[in-house]
Amino acid sequence: MSEKIVLTGIKPTGTPHLGNYIGALKPLVDMSQKSRTFMFIADLHALNTIHDPKVIQQYSYEMAAALVAMGLNLDNAILFRQSDIVEVYELATLLTNVTPKGLMNRAHSYKAAVEKNTAAGDDVDAGVNMGLYIYPILMAADILLYNSDIVPVGADQKQHVEFARDIAGYFNNIYGETFKLPEPVISESAGTIPGLDGRKMSKSYDNTIPLFAPESELKKKIMRIITDSKTPEESKDPDESTIFQLYKHFADENEIAKLREMFVAGGMGYGTAKTILYEKINSVLGDARNEYNRLLANKSELDAILENGANKARVVAAETLKRVKRKMLGE
Ligand code: ADP
Ligand code: TRP
Repeated sequence: MSEKIVLTGIKPTGTPHLGNYIGALKPLVDMSQKSRTFMFIADLHALNTIHDPKVIQQYSYEMAAALVAMGLNLDNAILFRQSDIVEVYELATLLTNVTPKGLMNRAHSYKAAVEKNTAAGDDVDAGVNMGLYIYPILMAADILLYNSDIVPVGADQKQHVEFARDIAGYFNNIYGETFKLPEPVISESAGTIPGLDGRKMSKSYDNTIPLFAPESELKKKIMRIITDSKTPEESKDPDESTIFQLYKHFADENEIAKLREMFVAGGMGYGTAKTILYEKINSVLGDARNEYNRLLANKSELDAILENGANKARVVAAETLKRVKRKMLGE
C-alpha cells in the first residue's frame, strides 16, 4: 500500500504567536512524528503583501526556527523554502492555461477585496495586484508539484485546496490522467485561540502574544489580558476566560481540572490566574525558546536545514514538471 503524501505551506507574514502555535505549528510538529510531510515556508505567497525582502527573510527564518525548535522531526518532514524550488513558478505559469478566470473571481480573498472597494466607492480592483489575484494558482502549483494527497490547512485555506483539486481536474480532462486530486484536511480541534482583547488572536488585531517572547515580555503581555471586573472572591466562568482558554493548551488534565475548580470556587483574583498561566507557558516553552533564539543567532544552521529540504523537494518537483511539460508541449 502506498503511503499518502502530506503537504502544507506556512506563510511567513509575521512573528509566530500563540494562536499560530496552537492552531498550526504544534499540530504540524506532532504530525511530523508519524507522517512523511512536505512542509515549506511559503515566501512567494507572502510577496503580494510584503514588499521588503529583509522582512520576508526574517519572518521565514522565524517560522523555520520555530518549527525546528519545537522538535519538528526532520527525518519525516522535508522542510524547505518555497522560493528555492524554481519549478513552482514554471508549473504555476503553465497551470494558468487551464484555469478559468472565473474561478479566480470566486476566490474568497479576491472577493473580499472587491467588496471592500465597492463599499468604499472605489474601482473594484483598486489595490489588487496580480499576485493576490492568481494566489490560488500558485498554491495549486505547490500542491500538485509534490503529488500531494492530503493538505492540512486552516479553515480559511480550504477553498484554495478545493481550487487546486479543480485545476488538477481541468488539466486531467484535457491532457489525460496526470495529477492526483488533493484533499484538504481542516483541523478544528484547537478552535479559535483568543488574544489579549478576547477577539481571535491575530496580527491584524494587534492582540497577539508572541510564541517565543522573552520572559519579561511574555509576563507583561499575559498581565495585559483583558478580563471582566469580578472581584477575587467571586466565582468566575473559566469557559469565558481568555486566561483559562490559553492555559488549557499548555497544562495537563489534572492541572486544567484544578484551575477550573479555582475559577468556579471563587477566592482567586485574575492576577493570580495570570501568574499561574505565565508560569505554565514559560515552563512549557522555555527550552524551545532557547533553541529558537540559538537557531536565529546561527542562521547558517537554518540555511543548511532548508537547503537539505530543498534538495529533496527539488527531485520530486523536477520529475513532475517534466511530466507536465511532456503532456502539454510534446516529447
Ligand atoms: P494571523 O491571523 O495572525 O494573520 P495567520 O492567518 O497568518 O495568522 O495564521 C496562520 C495559521 O495559524 C492559520 O491558518 C491558523 O491555522 C493558525 N492560527 C492563527 N491564529 C489563530 C488563532 N487565533 N486560533 C487558532 N489558530 C490560529
Ligand atoms: N496560502 C496558505 C496560507 O496563507 C499557505 C500556503 C501556500 C499553502 N501554499 C500552500 C498551504 C500549499 C497548503 C498548501 O496559509
